[in-house]
Amino acid sequence: MASITLKNIVKKYDDGFPAVNDVSIDIADGEFVILVGPSGCGKSTLLRMIVGLEDITSGDLLIDGKRVNEKAPRDRNLAMVFQNYALYPHLTVFENIAFPLRLNKGKLTEERVKELVLGAAKTLELTDHLERKPGNLSGGQRQRVAMGRAIVRQADAFLFDEPLSNLDAKLRGQMRAEISQMQRRLGTTSVYVTHDQTEAMTLGDRVAVLKKGILQQIASPRELYEQPVNLFVAGFIGSPSMNFLPATLDGTVLKTPIGDIPVPEEKAAVARGKDVVLLGVRPEFFEDASLVEEHKLQHGAKFTAELTHTEWLGNEQYGYIDFEPSPEVRELLQGLARDMDAEELRPQVVVTLDAASRIRGGHPAELWLDTRRLHIFDPSSGDNLTRDAAAGEALTEEAAAERKEEIERAGRARTAAAGE
Ligand SMILES: Nc1ncnc2c1ncn2[C@@H]1O[C@H](COP(=O)(O)OP(=O)(O)O)[C@@H](O)[C@H]1O
Ligand SMILES: [Mg+2]
Repeated sequence: MASITLKNIVKKYDDGFPAVNDVSIDIADGEFVILVGPSGCGKSTLLRMIVGLEDITSGDLLIDGKRVNEKAPRDRNLAMVFQNYALYPHLTVFENIAFPLRLNKGKLTEERVKELVLGAAKTLELTDHLERKPGNLSGGQRQRVAMGRAIVRQADAFLFDEPLSNLDAKLRGQMRAEISQMQRRLGTTSVYVTHDQTEAMTLGDRVAVLKKGILQQIASPRELYEQPVNLFVAGFIGSPSMNFLPATLDGTVLKTPIGDIPVPEEKAAVARGKDVVLLGVRPEFFEDASLVEEHKLQHGAKFTAELTHTEWLGNEQYGYIDFEPSPEVRELLQGLARDMDAEELRPQVVVTLDAASRIRGGHPAELWLDTRRLHIFDPSSGDNLTRDAAAGEALTEEAAAERKEEIERAGRARTAAAGE
C-alpha cells in the first residue's frame, strides 16, 4: 500500500491545451479518493499520468514520497481495475483472476499462483465460483473477478476509470456498494474517476472536483455539500441541484424574483455594497410553512409564491416555481449549465416538500425557507461569500476520524478471522 502525491501536475497535449492544470492532491495510504467533474475536465488524463500511461508535462508525482515521473507503468506497481466486461469469457474465474500472473511467465510457481488466486477469491467471496465462466456470474460477481485481478498483483494502489458507466442504474447501485465495501475491507489506496456526482458522494473518503483541468475543491462529501467553495461545486454536487436566484439587498432583506427573504445579519453582511448577488438555495431548505414545527420557524423566513406544479414521489414531493431572470442572469445561468455539462438551467426553482403537504400548483402557497443554510455567491467570481472554512474542515476531519475507526475495526475483524 502506498500514499500518492500530486504536486502541481500539468498535462499539455500536443496542441498545447492544458488538459490538467496545476493540480496538487495528497492521497493518504489507504484512502479512497474520487476525481469527479464533467466530461472533458481531465479526470482520465490525471489517472493515466498516475499509472504512467501518459507523460507528465510538469510537476511531480510521488508514490510513498519517491518521485516516479520517469518510471515505467510496470515499475509503479499500481493496478488499473477495468470494467467487468474486460473479462475473458472462455476462461474460468480462476484463470481470469490468475491472468496478470500468467503474463509474468516463469517468475511464479504454479503453487504460488494458486495461493494468490485462492487468497483473493477468499477475500472476494468467490471461492465457490472458481471453476465457473464469467458469463454465468451475476454482475456483482463479475466486478469482483475484475477486482481479483488487481488484488493478485499485490498492487500498492487501485485506479478505477468510470468502471460502472455502462451498467444500468440498479446494477450500478449494487456495484457501488460492492466496490465501497471491498475497498474498506482491503484498505488499499484507491483513486476512482467518475462524472457521476452520486457515485462520487457515496464512494469517496474525499472527493476532488475538477473543472476544465483545474481542481476546484477537495473535501469529504459532506464538506462539499455544505460548504462548497464556489458556484460550480455548489451546482455540480447534489441532486436535484442547488437553485440559484439573483438577489439585491435592502437592509437585511434579500429581494428575489420569488419573494422578499429576510436573512440573518451575518448573511446580509456579505451581500452589502454589491449590486446583485446570487442566492444558493438547496431544494430541501424549503418547506410547506404549515408543516414547519413552531420552534424551527424562527430560524427561517416565510414567503408566498405560486408553484407551477408539484410531483408526488411517495416519500416527498417536488414543487416548481418559475421566475423571469434579467438577460444578464439568464446568461450567467446558461454559462454555469455549460460548465457543468448539464442541460440548460431553467429559470426555475425546485423545492422539496413533505409528502403530507397539500400545496398544489396554480394557487399562492405559503412556503418557509431555512435562511441559516443559504449560500450567497459573488456573481462575477463565483466565490461562495458565506462559506465557513473552519466548519467545512471540521466536517472533513470528522469523516477522516470515522474512517480511521472503520479501518481499525476491519483490521480487528481480519485478525480475529485469521485466528479462528
Ligand atoms: N490524446 C489526446 N490528445 C489530445 N487531447 C486529448 C487527448 N486525450 C484527451 N485530450 C483532451 O484533454 C481533455 C481532458 O480529457 P480527459 O482527461 O479524457 O477528460 P475526462 O476523462 O474528464 O472526460 C479534453 O479536452 C480532451 O479532448
Ligand atoms: Mg474520462
